[in-house]
Amino acid sequence: MHSGAASQGHPRASWLGPRQTMLEVFIALLSCVVCRICAFVMEVIIQPSQEAASLLAAKMIASLVRRKPAAVLGLATGSTPLGLYRELARMHREEGLDFQRATTFNLDEYVGLAPGHPASYHHFMRENLFRHINVAPGNTHIPDGLSCDIPATCEAYEASIRAAGGIDLQILGIGSDGHIGFNEPASSLASRTRIKTLTPRTRADNAPFFAQGEEVPHHVITMGIGTILETRQVLLLGFGLKKAEALAAAIEGPVSPMVPASALHFHPRAHVILDEAAATRLERTDYYRHVFDNKPVWQKQ
Ligand code: F6R
Repeated sequence: MHSGAASQGHPRASWLGPRQTMLEVFIALLSCVVCRICAFVMEVIIQPSQEAASLLAAKMIASLVRRKPAAVLGLATGSTPLGLYRELARMHREEGLDFQRATTFNLDEYVGLAPGHPASYHHFMRENLFRHINVAPGNTHIPDGLSCDIPATCEAYEASIRAAGGIDLQILGIGSDGHIGFNEPASSLASRTRIKTLTPRTRADNAPFFAQGEEVPHHVITMGIGTILETRQVLLLGFGLKKAEALAAAIEGPVSPMVPASALHFHPRAHVILDEAAATRLERTDYYRHVFDNKPVWQKQ
């Protein structure tokens, strides 16, 4: 609807859109401020494929890095972010996406694995992202799985996140049991970086990353759920039927330590990006699609 003022011939400010009144702009700005202060948003975005979901996540990260070249990124490992990392590498190579000033913190590492071990997350990150972009090696952080003093290492990890100014954007995958990071079911929702014992199910899920016959470690160092909740923005990626149940419990079930990803309902700005298969157990898919397709312009960034 056109504004009364415009239809009565009053001059319009040149930066107003054809359908915007000053009042609408004021309301949008106000909502923006209110959103930043107190809105707790879990946005569910369903994409036609894993590839499309990874591209969308990469665009969101690229937009942050372009806006804030010294962004602090929280990174995940596993099969889920592989397409995203490939796309970030492509954007660096072909579009000059610059990570020179970025800082990264990984969620977790296996206790007892040296950085050169092919199943270590140090190795994973080097092979799948770091060597393909221009992040400064001194700006990347992954918990030290060989530490002789794990509590001190965990405390120092938290301190370096704080010293970097906190994490701007955290990438997460989800375990088939609902874990985020390696916060297994029954983890405290206030937990900080610490040692955790993996469940048999997670060890079985991760066995394909290890050589045949090699034991998956029982212990990991992981950022806590409290640590993750302090990040400024979260992108939780979930792909495939195997994740459908955990995602439905996290998104539509009650918040519970038994589904650690459900704690993201307390995150100020969480986006859950799924492919169709991972969305099959959700009840409100039509609504999530409707909301995404009808986002107000000021929310699209
Ligand atoms: C990895 C991590 C884990 C994985 C999760 C899903 O750093 O923190 O939470 O994101 O186990 O693993 P994939 O992606 O292999 O299914």
